[in-house]
Amino acid sequence: MFEHIDAYPGDPILSLNEDFAKDPRANKVNLSIGIYYDDEGRLPVMRAVREAEAQLLEAPAAKPYLPMAGLAAYRDAVQSLVFGDDAPARKEGRIATVQTLGGSGALKVGADFIKRYFPGSQVWVSDPTWDNHRFIFERAGFTVGTYPYYDEATGGLQFDAMLSAIRDLPAKSVVLLHACCHNPTGVDLDEAQWIRLIDVIEQRDLLPFIDMAYQGFGAGLDADAFAIRELARRNVPAFVANSFSKNFSLYGERCGALSVICESAQTAVRVLGQLTSAVRANYSNPPTHGATIVARVLTTPALRRSWEEELASMCTRIACMRGAIHERLRGNVPDAMLARYLEQRGMFTYTGLFAAQVDAMRERHGVYLIRSGRMCVAALNERNVEATASAIGDVLSNAFA
Ligand code: LMR
Repeated sequence: MFEHIDAYPGDPILSLNEDFAKDPRANKVNLSIGIYYDDEGRLPVMRAVREAEAQLLEAPAAKPYLPMAGLAAYRDAVQSLVFGDDAPARKEGRIATVQTLGGSGALKVGADFIKRYFPGSQVWVSDPTWDNHRFIFERAGFTVGTYPYYDEATGGLQFDAMLSAIRDLPAKSVVLLHACCHNPTGVDLDEAQWIRLIDVIEQRDLLPFIDMAYQGFGAGLDADAFAIRELARRNVPAFVANSFSKNFSLYGERCGALSVICESAQTAVRVLGQLTSAVRANYSNPPTHGATIVARVLTTPALRRSWEEELASMCTRIACMRGAIHERLRGNVPDAMLARYLEQRGMFTYTGLFAAQVDAMRERHGVYLIRSGRMCVAALNERNVEATASAIGDVLSNAFA
């Protein structure tokens, strides 16, 4: 019966993370998956999350099915955080939001919805992008193409090439964009560039799909949502996936949401209905625990303050580690490859290391990066930064020998 089933070659991120767990070496270093670890190398439970969970334990509640669209308080808190509490689009009821299984769930529900209502559209992702973007949209039945994005020579953005490629796309093309802290490159558009891009999106009648997995890890909670808020302000129809995996350190709770900016409140009701139907067809309704925590933290002033402060301190620690690795690599890494450790934003640096060099770092030194050369700088700490820098120095000097 199953003779024709292919072997799964594995996922470039999650399978590598599983390989890391099996690696018996005591001094191994995991800079592969996009997870924030504290200076002790531990996955933090944020203070506000701990407090919200303690409150929930004090008054245990029954766990009925949630509505298909998710927990109402969570959906409202998501809209407030992503679009701004006073956003006119929100007040006017033009945003349809459903709770989803993480950001990936939001992408899948959105992909299913788009396939149903825009069956002729093609999807365009940045070159490069998070591997799962392509996978999710292809599995939903789309052809996925790329637009220029990263400039390997400078470690920055090829904005003009990006804009001109997007300008040439047919109307109703789906353009997948990263709101902030681009994964894997750490290279973002500035506000002026976003405005020029949104002009093109509007003129060409394109469908932006914004993925915001790292809100709060770039320029701040509000600034990171700049493009989304600008789209909503200009009433440009758009899909927005967001996730609390990283900024709440709630990876395993699968807390995400999909919001769609609609042209009118009446349309938003119908869109919400069809998003809900996509949820029902995939997994019926989402789970309660993580959403209850997030909603409680975001809507309780003391918990919200604590969460924002801790998130800011996580960003400060990442910035320190960027400085620390930069310092240690100086002199061992060509200048052109060095600046990006400081300049690229969020959890990642796109090191410019080749797959063979990454493999050598893993095999010889137990230091794990993604084979594209992506390093999770949010997992660096005072104890592993030295080993990481010397592993990079080693593979570079061997490659150049
Ligand atoms: C990553 O990019 O490492 C994370 O978003 C985890 C994942 O699911 O790939």
